[in-house]
Amino acid sequence: MEIELSEEQRLLRDTCRDFAERELKPHAKRWDREHQYPADAVKKAFELGLGGVAVPAEWGGAGMDNVAYALAIEEISRGCASVGVTLSVNNSLYCDPVLRYGTDRQKESWLKPFASGEKLGCFGLTEPQAGSDAAEQRTTAVRRGDKYVINGTKNWITNGPVADAIVLFTMTDLSKGTKGITTFVVDAKTPGFLLQKPDEKLGICASPSCTIFFENMEVPAANRLGAEGEGFKIAMSTLDGGRIGIAAQAIGIGMAAFEEAREYAKVRKTFDVPIAQHQAIQFMLADMITELEAARLLTLRAASLKDAGVRHSRESSMAKLYASEAANRVADKAVQIHGGMGYSKELDVERHFRDARITEIYEGTSEIQRLVISNALLK
Ligand code: CAA
Repeated sequence: MEIELSEEQRLLRDTCRDFAERELKPHAKRWDREHQYPADAVKKAFELGLGGVAVPAEWGGAGMDNVAYALAIEEISRGCASVGVTLSVNNSLYCDPVLRYGTDRQKESWLKPFASGEKLGCFGLTEPQAGSDAAEQRTTAVRRGDKYVINGTKNWITNGPVADAIVLFTMTDLSKGTKGITTFVVDAKTPGFLLQKPDEKLGICASPSCTIFFENMEVPAANRLGAEGEGFKIAMSTLDGGRIGIAAQAIGIGMAAFEEAREYAKVRKTFDVPIAQHQAIQFMLADMITELEAARLLTLRAASLKDAGVRHSRESSMAKLYASEAANRVADKAVQIHGGMGYSKELDVERHFRDARITEIYEGTSEIQRLVISNALLK
């Protein structure tokens, strides 16, 4: 399979690369150290059309496709992985399910302002007991007339502290398992929507996340996305797209680590020569770029299948599994090439090492990706 980029896709990639170089890379270390959400940089990224890259223009998006989206997230994450995931969550986990399951009326209120970047969305699936086992939902939604009353807890909600709305998964019938899960779009200003303090994390420190409690939160029935009981299918098919975004984020982190290692290897000398002249270093660099380019091919293949409207669960999981593990191997080697400096907060490479780690965990751990892939193989 060959993926030939169109002129439009190349242009978006190059624009994002330039933006990341100018507006993200110079500040990413400080945002990370200060755990600062870079609201202005995210706003500028939205002005480039990165709120809803694959959302049609009639719904406020850039009207491009998922290949363009993956290229954009890679380039943005090369500059700052935290901004990369902020955008990925808004595009893949918030806008995409509203686009696919929302009515036109819902899209007018809950998609247009988010895809155009006026507002930011988040995705509420994870609960204390429902991480890898996403079917174990305990947040309940009970119908009362033309409203639902929602009670429960969601945690690790990326964008949660700064989002304007959430795509929220609840149980409307606990006896039905995955068939009892129902989705809503909820305004973050709804009474009973209770944000907790931001999480403290190992990496992506400029991407805020938090726990959210829902206490007797009344949500209009008109905010239900899809039918009652359709929620698990919505969540899983949404993650099929989200995993493309995280694969792209991982490649961006890996590329940043690789490029810094390559430049350092050309100037750092040991035994009278630049370390780039030692075969031990040359082989590491060769392995790093080979893995990243392989990861990109897997990711663009998954994205092009999504564009073709074909089920792509297996391909998205393969891309996310391989790209996230490759990014971690690459970031580890980048630290090694830098020696002591790789361990220092003075350089960016230690941040890439920390940022890469989450890509093997969120939107399904590597073990969950292996489950999805093997289930598809053994069907
Ligand atoms: N598309 C459509 N339907 C799907 C589907 C998909 N990709 N995957 C499953 N389904 C359907 C199945 O067909 C099945 O339907 P039927 O009952 O009608 O046959 C139903 O859903 C149940 O499927 P399974 O039996 O496979 O479900 P399971 O309970 O065994 O769970 C799982 C499968 C893959 C382990 C799933 O729980 C999973 O993906 N877990 C990981 C959760 C995850 O990724 N969480 C990420 C949170 S978001 C996040 O991390 C955001 C962030 O911070 C950035």
